[in-house]
Amino acid sequence: MTAKFRVPVLANSDADNIAAKTIAGRWGLTSEAADNDAFQLWLNDGILELHWLQSPQKMSPLVVDFHQGKAAYRAQHTQLKNEAIAKAVGVSGQFQPSIVDATAGLGRDAFVLAGLGCNLQLIERHPVVAALLDNGLQRAQQEADFIGETCQRMHLIGTDNLLTGKGFTHEPDVVYLDPMYPKTGKQKAQVKKDMQMFQQLVGSDEDADNLLEPAMALAKYRVVVKRPNSAPFLAGREPNSQIKSKKHRFDVYIKRGFNESAN
Ligand SMILES: C[S@@+](CC[C@H](N)C(=O)[O-])C[C@H]1O[C@@H](n2cnc3c(N)ncnc32)[C@H](O)[C@@H]1O
Repeated sequence: MTAKFRVPVLANSDADNIAAKTIAGRWGLTSEAADNDAFQLWLNDGILELHWLQSPQKMSPLVVDFHQGKAAYRAQHTQLKNEAIAKAVGVSGQFQPSIVDATAGLGRDAFVLAGLGCNLQLIERHPVVAALLDNGLQRAQQEADFIGETCQRMHLIGTDNLLTGKGFTHEPDVVYLDPMYPKTGKQKAQVKKDMQMFQQLVGSDEDADNLLEPAMALAKYRVVVKRPNSAPFLAGREPNSQIKSKKHRFDVYIKRGFNESAN
């Protein structure tokens, strides 16, 4: 996959400028702005912001901030029994599986699972999304509160991914997949502004079907795939079970039960 847009990392102050260059180097982004940039990343007092310069309507920049908004509220009020994702992944009071979130995005689902005690390795192949997530995690991990502790269970590995096949030596209990799915007309109208920006940047993951096989090979016990309720099965493969929530379903592919050994 090659990123659709060239997105520079920019800053206004000297302190931010040095850090912005480090971020650009880390994620293979440029430090030079261009007149026709559709998107720009700006480092503002250590906070990385994504600006959509050609957006059809006025939009605030997109930032990963685990201490703000719905994410923070959800993390502090998450209850095992209410979370479809927890059931799908197999979290219980006694067992918190280790998870590779192989399509991490902005880390929202991973944050819920980390809030329930799971340790997660995160993979995100889009360098701009990975840079935003990394910045949000680093800032949150410095705080000595519940959210900081939760984010310390989230480890962003990088952009090498299940399709490039590099860098996975450990065997997670569960692999979690939530690739982008092309939006239909009705879904499009309901998408919030920050997600419109995200979708414009990332596009749809046309190669998502290819993720299921390497995910099954990597997981010790199961693979969980999040899909819109109307979407077909990933790679056309029927899951062993499904957990449904209002807008999504979680398709669960069981490799072996949590109590079963490999032999
Ligand atoms: C729908 S978003 C994931 C949202 C995420 N579950 C959350 O809660 O924030 C899908 C993400 O998967 C990433 N992605 C798609 N295919 C990937 C792959 N093969 N490896 C790594 N990341 C991938 C996309 O770049 C995109 O950021």
